[in-house]
Amino acid sequence: MSQPLRAGILGTGSYLPEKIVTNKDMEKLVETSDEWIVTRTGIKERHFAAADEFTSDMSTKAAQRALDAAGLKPTDLDLIIVATITPDMQTPSTACFVQTKLGAPQAAAFDISAACSGFVYGLSLARAFVESGFYKRILLIGAEKLTSFIDWKDRGTCVLFGDGAGAVIIGPSVNGEHEILSSYMSANGSEADLLKIPGGGCRFPSSLETIENRLHSLKMDGKQIFKIAVKVMSEAVLEAAKRANITLDQVSLVIPHQANDRIIQAIGERLELPKERVFVNVDRIANTSAASVAIALDEAVKAGKIQKGQYVAFVAFGAGTTLASSIVKW
Ligand SMILES: CC(C)(COP(=O)(O)OP(=O)(O)OC[C@H]1O[C@@H](n2cnc3c(N)ncnc32)[C@H](O)[C@@H]1OP(=O)(O)O)[C@@H](O)C(=O)NCCC(=O)NCCS
Repeated sequence: MSQPLRAGILGTGSYLPEKIVTNKDMEKLVETSDEWIVTRTGIKERHFAAADEFTSDMSTKAAQRALDAAGLKPTDLDLIIVATITPDMQTPSTACFVQTKLGAPQAAAFDISAACSGFVYGLSLARAFVESGFYKRILLIGAEKLTSFIDWKDRGTCVLFGDGAGAVIIGPSVNGEHEILSSYMSANGSEADLLKIPGGGCRFPSSLETIENRLHSLKMDGKQIFKIAVKVMSEAVLEAAKRANITLDQVSLVIPHQANDRIIQAIGERLELPKERVFVNVDRIANTSAASVAIALDEAVKAGKIQKGQYVAFVAFGAGTTLASSIVKW
């Protein structure tokens, strides 16, 4: 009898723009201090994309690296999914730009919008496509150029974000390697007002008024988001472990969405995990929304922090609000 298809991560890649912006640099833009940013968020620096470098460009670079790691060519792909809230354009999808830039004309392409949970949502989606036999090789990218959607006059948000992209290739797992064991997704639309970019949609179409009222940049209730994030992200890690039929003790590394080091540390404490079992790069990269977990995964792999046979947990929470988690056996 043939075994059921199981999806796995065949390769990872990431890309960070060249320009590094430190907290000292941010002090020149808004009334803030390195001390405030570090103590409240753990962020020391972030990468900013160049003016002519778009979400699709960063996506394509991360994608090529993931393809190389998987030993595949763009023409091997069946589908390209880009998780982003900062697309090149309202339409067409950023995934269509990536398809052309990468040279994968045979692949279907679309974007998903689940904010900071976008990449982990996408992992569930790609897994379902592979395990149903519908598609064999999927390129999943999390990418953001958040600097195009930040209110540079709002010191409460502009210091928190950076640009970048991360990518994985999802396909049938060979010998159970890098297999996605569980997926969990949820959303709470009643919390939609906590984090949003209100302008530019059909509710507030672009106009002089929406520009004057700064509706095209990110608005956030940071305190509320903080409280909810710690609780629900901790719960989601446990839910993913339960669905994978493992205990938290068996998880070697948790890779959480990198929004704020205090949120990450609080999750670690709540789950009683030692520091070395929770991945952190928010100090160097800041919050890159949908790209965050994808970049962190690639960095963890490259740094040798994930060994064959170990269980890794992904967890993310973001605007919507959305929440997602997953367990992968490396
Ligand atoms: C944004 C965040 C760092 C703010 O931290 P906080 O401890 O809640 O800080 P507050 O909002 O209470 O602000 C405290 C003071 O610092 C000030 N402040 C805000 N941003 C500042 C900055 N960059 N530099 C200096 N002071 C700043 C505020 O104006 C406020 O001053 P006031 O007391 O005189 O009004 C924190 O709430 C957070 O990280 N939230 C989650 C954000 C997040 O993860 N978003 C994405 C989720 S996917």
